[in-house]
Amino acid sequence: MEPTDRLKREAANAAVDRFVESGATLGLGSGTTSAFVVQRIGEKLAAGELRGVRGVPTSEGTAALAREAGIPLVGLSEARPTLTLDGADEIGPRLATIKGLGGALLREKIVAAASLDGLVLVADGSKAVDTLGTRGPLPVEVDPFGWEATFEALASLGCEPRLRMDRAEPGRPFVTDGGHYTADCAFGPIQDPPTLEAAIKNIPGALECGLFIGLARAAVIADQNGVRTIET
Ligand code: A5P
Repeated sequence: MEPTDRLKREAANAAVDRFVESGATLGLGSGTTSAFVVQRIGEKLAAGELRGVRGVPTSEGTAALAREAGIPLVGLSEARPTLTLDGADEIGPRLATIKGLGGALLREKIVAAASLDGLVLVADGSKAVDTLGTRGPLPVEVDPFGWEATFEALASLGCEPRLRMDRAEPGRPFVTDGGHYTADCAFGPIQDPPTLEAAIKNIPGALECGLFIGLARAAVIADQNGVRTIET
């Protein structure tokens, strides 16, 4: 296993052990770190260390992993998550976060916002930053209808939006589980995340952006020095 994957797994195990209780309905995030979260919950259910845990998946990929791990699934029409555990691309001051490089940000944000006790971020230390936007682009989920016009409007906010392409099908845009495109917007350092988020959400066709502000109540981060939990 790669060193980074080992850290992701350490953070995932620590987050599940600290925050997941029997009987919880959990929002299950997407991405490689979330896969370790799902795996740990499945192991603890199988060992009888957890009972009655259900999951609300944020993507088809996570739903498949959760089924394999033996975690019963429900939708938001049946239950609200008590808590969501999810990965992150960048974790900044006050746990403001960028998510969405894995391609599931709209559903992740819907599930996190619906969670009664908020969001717990799980990450390896490379994701911790002083200023959001310094590690990679800000993903924005965009309706395919008139996407070129939406990209122009995004560009007017000070970035060069790039249409994310499908790695498995060269030449075709990546399409989210909800049928949307993704604009990867390299803004550089984002000095005022709430203002940028509001400006993006004001663009018709920009369905949601990867800035998660005020949603995370804690972050569990693993690096070479061990695992630390930051709480707001
Ligand atoms: C999925 O859309 C993303 O928000 C992921 O949670 C994020 O990209 C972190 O992914 P990894 O855990 O794979 O680094």
